[in-house]
Amino acid sequence: MCGIIGVLGDREVAPILVEALKRLEYRGYDSTGIATVQNGILDRRRAVGKLVNLSDLLMHDPLPGKSGIGHTRWATHGGPSEANAHPHRTGRVAVVHNGIIENFRELRMRLNGATWESETDTETVVQLCANYLDQGLPPREAAAETLKHLKGAFALAFLFQGEDDLIVAARTGSPLVVGYGQGEMYVGSDAITLAPLTNMLTYLEEGDYAFVTRAGAEIYDHAGRRANRDMQRIEAQKARIDKGGYRHFMAKEIFEQPTVLARCLGHYTRGGRVVIHEGEVDFTQTDRLTLVACGTAYYACLVAKYWFEKLAVLPVDVDIASEFRYRAPPISKRSTALFVSQSGETADTLAALRHVRDKAATVLSVVNVSESTIARESDLALPIKAGIEVGVASTKAFVCQLGVLANLAILAARQRGQIGAAQEAELIRILQGLPALTSQALALDDTIRRHTGTLARAQTVLFMGRGAMFPLAREGALKLKEISYINAEGHASGELKHGPIALVDKTVPVVVLAPRDGLFDKTVSNMQEVMAREGRVWLLTDRDGAKQASDGVWKVLTMPVIEPLFAPILYAIPAQLIAYYTAVHKGTDVDRPRNLAKSVTVE
Ligand code: AGP
Repeated sequence: MCGIIGVLGDREVAPILVEALKRLEYRGYDSTGIATVQNGILDRRRAVGKLVNLSDLLMHDPLPGKSGIGHTRWATHGGPSEANAHPHRTGRVAVVHNGIIENFRELRMRLNGATWESETDTETVVQLCANYLDQGLPPREAAAETLKHLKGAFALAFLFQGEDDLIVAARTGSPLVVGYGQGEMYVGSDAITLAPLTNMLTYLEEGDYAFVTRAGAEIYDHAGRRANRDMQRIEAQKARIDKGGYRHFMAKEIFEQPTVLARCLGHYTRGGRVVIHEGEVDFTQTDRLTLVACGTAYYACLVAKYWFEKLAVLPVDVDIASEFRYRAPPISKRSTALFVSQSGETADTLAALRHVRDKAATVLSVVNVSESTIARESDLALPIKAGIEVGVASTKAFVCQLGVLANLAILAARQRGQIGAAQEAELIRILQGLPALTSQALALDDTIRRHTGTLARAQTVLFMGRGAMFPLAREGALKLKEISYINAEGHASGELKHGPIALVDKTVPVVVLAPRDGLFDKTVSNMQEVMAREGRVWLLTDRDGAKQASDGVWKVLTMPVIEPLFAPILYAIPAQLIAYYTAVHKGTDVDRPRNLAKSVTVE
């Protein structure tokens, strides 16, 4: 997604802006740009492609100034090009934007006398503001008046000709923070962006706008009233985010999982009982639990459905966030709604939360960013404690989401009288054993790497699993397709014969996720149906499963033995490694795969 930075500095800001844009790269982008004001003169530089192209441009054509704004663009309206790159500007104002101006066509028509240089929705903001400036409004008022006419989602920063000590910041639908430095002030998309500059932040609320100068920030709410917003010390990791010696952030995050999973699980248990430090969670009055998310977080919810229904006998609906509110779900005051989001800023998930906020008895969220919008708009936000996840393909966040959801399912089971103290303690003991098992699974990485060359040459790869391993099959397919660009599908093992098996021939690898559980024999039958059609089966199972079902399979990966109920947490590791090494074989941009963003803050 797009990223924003603004600096009112006591030093040259171009290098500070570029450094901040580096910290925004993880969000995904296809062009960059900065603008500065120097002695009242507004100027800008923009470049298509990676940030290094902007740096090279600035090397040859420096941009002086101690006040500036910068942007990483993930194309929505108008393809990646210099003309469409931000900042957009006229002679008097420059703007950077994250989000979508939904009424941009109407505004373009209204501003039909303007000279347009791009196809973007954002350019309507700068042209509208310029129009108010031309009518004689001073910059602050011109910006405030512009905001009244925008519809959609927008985090914005305005920089004005003649104003060396002013940035106007605004936030509706897309996050924006104000940072307080020593004689400097900042605006940015998130705490990570500003981490090397300050950890004293104010999160703008929905509809807020701010006049930022080196003296501080005047914040106004959506109605134009002065607003007092807390200044918080946010401990985003100050240390530069780096790969820790791994080739990619994704690899680092895959191998961090034993540690972060242990931290996550430890946060939610005390003495053999589930403990929620953040507040009270009560499932006793809930007659239906609704889980809502996107992408990988959605697959975590699908896995959790098995746990809540099996352990707590609690009916669970699971919805893709972008579909949820359009199916008019029957939400009552006896419903609990739970939103899962690594970033806590996914627009579809946030919109779904806002749809139920006044309808459900309780709105919970499971997030990796505790200061995120979804967290702040929930009744209670439960942290997954995974640490910053930079790779676009979510790995450690997925496993920690499952860790939190497993604890919630155990809590619900206790509260609803389905398990006693001894059973709770036993379930927690099994969970507490998972970090060690994930370490054992990570030790298979070289075996996996050696087998992924064949997958890298495949046009289609299928994943299959039964029970809670079915959603994991879908997650494994998503991991593979999003970073290797290979067409991959995840199916319920029993469903292959109802259509997908038509895809199977000797060129199609089929990854079978099958711990030795009560469904294993049926899965083996489905696997043999695949092999009968020359499908190349890669069986992931445990020792007993391997003994029973290795004949004829292409490859077997023998996994540690695990209580089948929580097997999806463990089997996520090889699924991630299969995707990672296949993508490495293919030479794709593993951490920033094409077309994708780390946080999708547009609907
Ligand atoms: C997962 O690898 C993808 N990056 C994507 O599906 C992601 O899970 C989805 O966009 C949801 O993001 P969130 O967890 O930040 O809401």
